[in-house]
Amino acid sequence: KKIIFSATQPSGKITLGNYLGALRNWVSLQEDYHALYCVADEHAITVRQDPAALRRQTLELYAQFIACGLDPEKSTIFIQSHVPQHAELAWTLNCYTMYGELSRMTQFKDKSAAHADNVNAGLFTYPSLMAADILLYQTDLVPVGEDQRQHVELTRNIAQRFNGIYGEVFTMPEAYIPKVAARVMSLSEPDKKMSKSSTNENSYILVMDPPEVILRKFKRAVTDSEGGVYRSPDKPGVSNLIEIYAAVTGKSPEAVEQEFSGQGYGAFKPAVGEAVVEALRPIREETQRLLADKAYLESLYRQGAEKAAAMANRTLRKVHKKVGFVPR
Ligand code: TYM
Repeated sequence: KKIIFSATQPSGKITLGNYLGALRNWVSLQEDYHALYCVADEHAITVRQDPAALRRQTLELYAQFIACGLDPEKSTIFIQSHVPQHAELAWTLNCYTMYGELSRMTQFKDKSAAHADNVNAGLFTYPSLMAADILLYQTDLVPVGEDQRQHVELTRNIAQRFNGIYGEVFTMPEAYIPKVAARVMSLSEPDKKMSKSSTNENSYILVMDPPEVILRKFKRAVTDSEGGVYRSPDKPGVSNLIEIYAAVTGKSPEAVEQEFSGQGYGAFKPAVGEAVVEALRPIREETQRLLADKAYLESLYRQGAEKAAAMANRTLRKVHKKVGFVPR
C-alpha cells in the first residue's frame, strides 16, 4: 500500500479552511492508503503558545480528527511530540537544508513579519521538521492545502540531496492538493487566505462555531456591488462563497452558479451559511462527545504513537547508518 502523511497545527482552533482544504480529504484517502495523521504540536511552539491552551487545543484537534471520520483502526493517528523520532530526524535534515532555501519560504517571511518580536530558530527551520515528518514514513503522498505546496517542494529537494549523497534512503513524496477549496479565502478580506491567526473573528469560520455564529458570519461576508452569483477574478468574495458551497454540498462550482443564477446575495449568502452549518454539525457534536471521554482519547493517541514510532525507527536507523553514527 502507498503511504500518506499529513498534519495540522494545534495553534488555535481549526477553521473551515483546514477542514475543506485538508482534513476532509484525509478521510477518503485512508481507504486506499496506509495513512498517518499527526497533530503537529512541535510546529505550534514556533510561535508563543499558552501552555494550558496548547494542551487543550491538541486534545481538541485530536478529537476532531476522529470526529471527522479518521479511523484509528485503519490509520495511524498521533501527536507529534509523542514520537521523538520527528525531532531527531529534523536535526539531521537541518544539516542537509540550506540557509538560502529556508530564507525563501513565503510562510517564514509572513510569520517573521507578523511576530517580529520572536523570530526564533524554530520558526526558521520549521520546514526541516516538516520534511522529517514526511520522510520518516517513506511517504508517497502529502494531502495539503495550496499554502503548504512550497514546503512539500522543499521536502523533495532535501530528500533528493540526501539520496544523491547516500543512495535511495527516502521515498520522494508528492503534494496532493484538492481541486475545490484548496485555498479557502477570508470572509472579510477575500484576497487573503482564511486563517485562524487573523485578529478579525468574522474573517474565519471555526469548525466548533455554533450554528448562529456561522450564519451571522456568512451574512456579513464581504461580496461586491455587482450582484450576480458567478465566479470572476474581480469578484473574489462571491467566488470564495461559491467554492465553499460547492465543497460542502459536493456540487460543482458551475452547478452552483446555475442554481443561483438570477438570484441575489440575499438568497445566496444564507444558503451558504446553512449548508456549512449542516456539514459541520456532526463533527462539532462528535468532538464534544469524544472530549468528554479523556481515557478513550488517551488510549487512541498512545496506540497511535506506538505504531508511528515503530515505522519511524526503521527510517531513522537507516539514516543514522548512512551519515556515519555508531549503532546504538
Ligand atoms: P496548518 O496547520 O496551517 O493547516 C492544516 C492544513 O489546512 C490547510 N489549510 C487550508 N486549506 C485551504 N484553505 C485555507 N484557507 C487553509 N488554511 C490551511 C493547510 O494547507 C494544511 O494542509 N505546516 C503545516 C502542518 C504540518 C504538515 C506536516 C503538513 C506539519 N508537518 C507534514 C503536511 C505534512 C501547517 O502549518 O498546516
